[in-house]
Amino acid sequence: MLPRCAFSVCHVLVLVLCLSSAEDFDWTKNDHGSFYYGTFPAGFSWGAGSSAYQTEGAWDKDGKGLSIWDVFSHKKGKIQQNDTGDSSCEGYHKVKDDVSLMKELKLNHYRFSISWPRIIPTGIKSDHINEKGIQYYDELINLLLESKITPIVTLYHWDLPQVLQEKYGGWQNITMVNHFNEFANLCFERFGNRVKNWITFNNPWSVAVEGYETGEHAPGLRLRGTGAYRAAHHIIKAHAKVWHSYDTQWRAKQKGLVGISLSGDWGEPVDISNQKDIEAAERYVQFYLGWFATPIFHGDYPQVMKDFIGRKSVQQGLGTSRLPTFSPQEKSYIKGTCDFLGIGHFTTRYITQKSNPSGRSSGSYFTDRDLAELVDPRWPDPGSEWLYSVPWGFRRLLNFVKTQYGNPIVYVTENGVSEKMLCTELCDDWRIQYYKDYINEMLKAIKDGANVKGYTAWSLLDKFEWDEGYSERFGLYYVDFRNKNKPRYPKASVQFYKRIISSNGFPNQREVENWRRKAVETCSSSNQLLAAEEQRSTAANILRLIHDPLTSHMEMVTEIVVPTVCTLSILLSAIFLMFLLRRRN
Ligand code: NOJ
Repeated sequence: MLPRCAFSVCHVLVLVLCLSSAEDFDWTKNDHGSFYYGTFPAGFSWGAGSSAYQTEGAWDKDGKGLSIWDVFSHKKGKIQQNDTGDSSCEGYHKVKDDVSLMKELKLNHYRFSISWPRIIPTGIKSDHINEKGIQYYDELINLLLESKITPIVTLYHWDLPQVLQEKYGGWQNITMVNHFNEFANLCFERFGNRVKNWITFNNPWSVAVEGYETGEHAPGLRLRGTGAYRAAHHIIKAHAKVWHSYDTQWRAKQKGLVGISLSGDWGEPVDISNQKDIEAAERYVQFYLGWFATPIFHGDYPQVMKDFIGRKSVQQGLGTSRLPTFSPQEKSYIKGTCDFLGIGHFTTRYITQKSNPSGRSSGSYFTDRDLAELVDPRWPDPGSEWLYSVPWGFRRLLNFVKTQYGNPIVYVTENGVSEKMLCTELCDDWRIQYYKDYINEMLKAIKDGANVKGYTAWSLLDKFEWDEGYSERFGLYYVDFRNKNKPRYPKASVQFYKRIISSNGFPNQREVENWRRKAVETCSSSNQLLAAEEQRSTAANILRLIHDPLTSHMEMVTEIVVPTVCTLSILLSAIFLMFLLRRRN
């Protein structure tokens, strides 16, 4: 996700572009061909995903320690509406229900993450291991396997134990590498007999940039120009260490795979005949996906990052580059530490060259890139501000991965779209359209030769969407967050995705159109159900409001008024009696 400041620039640029260069810029040059009917290779794995902090809730239950997201979301003003993940979808208490939903979808795999502080409350293994936390993941894994759903487990989806943040400064500190390695080894030891697909980090770009550069995410630090590079450096080392641990200590016995999940928007040059734009678009992708993928596949940061950040650091008067360096030993240790590459992809940008003024005070991840991002105002934008639907960008990104990194095994670990509507809407035909087109572009990429083995719809449920709170819903299933039980309702996209899974692709136009029609038809009954439930809970709330003042009034009468009146009456009677007695005397 992009920080808000980048969006406003983006939007202004869209306007400028529309006004000034509408005639000489042909948006349709990227007409990306027609729909491709066909099926995926046999054994292709279909899944859906979630993450611990976004869905589990139970933030302080059964001995769990605090994570940086617990602390961050409890600070006022950090999250939309001051929402928190305290109870979220109550996933911690609804394992059976949620596995039933996955069975209903006929998923081949489910991607979830383990909350580090749930199983090691302080983050430091020698302090304490929380067996109740381990039991929770045991139950989830066992239920998945009984249901023939393969678990794909992420070790770090952003919820660092708070103690490690307070004690060491989190990912700014190299000691995280060892603590993370101990946590990972505990997971291999306890779950590795059943879990064969491990993802070390989810989207480290966000951790680094939004956690340590813009501060929009936990831990909320704004260490401009250095914080993100430093955090990323340690994360890459931690990833490599965990891969080596698995390779040397567990692989022979457990026979699993260890990868990393990287996010990457695609960057398309605004003008494909302009060399400067081509280079700027390449830089955009290298500063995003390449920042992490290049060290992992080739041993070092992309040359373009080293050049740009190095030059800008010199212009700032710094003695060394703000981008840290790997020693020769570290380079060979990091290179090749990936059994599969997870790709999280949602959207695309047009990119043009834009030089940022250099000076002593300048220097941030964003200005280091010397580029501007643009969007086509005609791209559908149903939900999150940053998420435009541009399916062809997905095919390009997958082809980029194929050529840049030696055609690795790829699992798409996140892809999907949100809706912003606060009102309930289960007939999400725009999401059906998004999935249909993006999955189709992935099919084309496979036909191009990309080695994509699986796809994970993001996400199974509506959930806590980080700094956006609950205002953006990515789920295939709608979650009623106002109801304490957090009931789930299928959106129309559930029916559609289910058909893609059971046909392993898109058989022919007539059938695919039929799926869509039926999905939208059936969702209206779920919509009615939800609407009725809403009316019921609204009525209950109104009753509670009416009832509340009445009860408190009654309480006041019995607790204060009655005793006061009684005491006063007794006093008055006594005074009256004394008065009568005196008169008689
Ligand atoms: C990537 C993050 O990994 C995930 O947690 C989030 O829900 C999606 N982006 C959508 O913003």
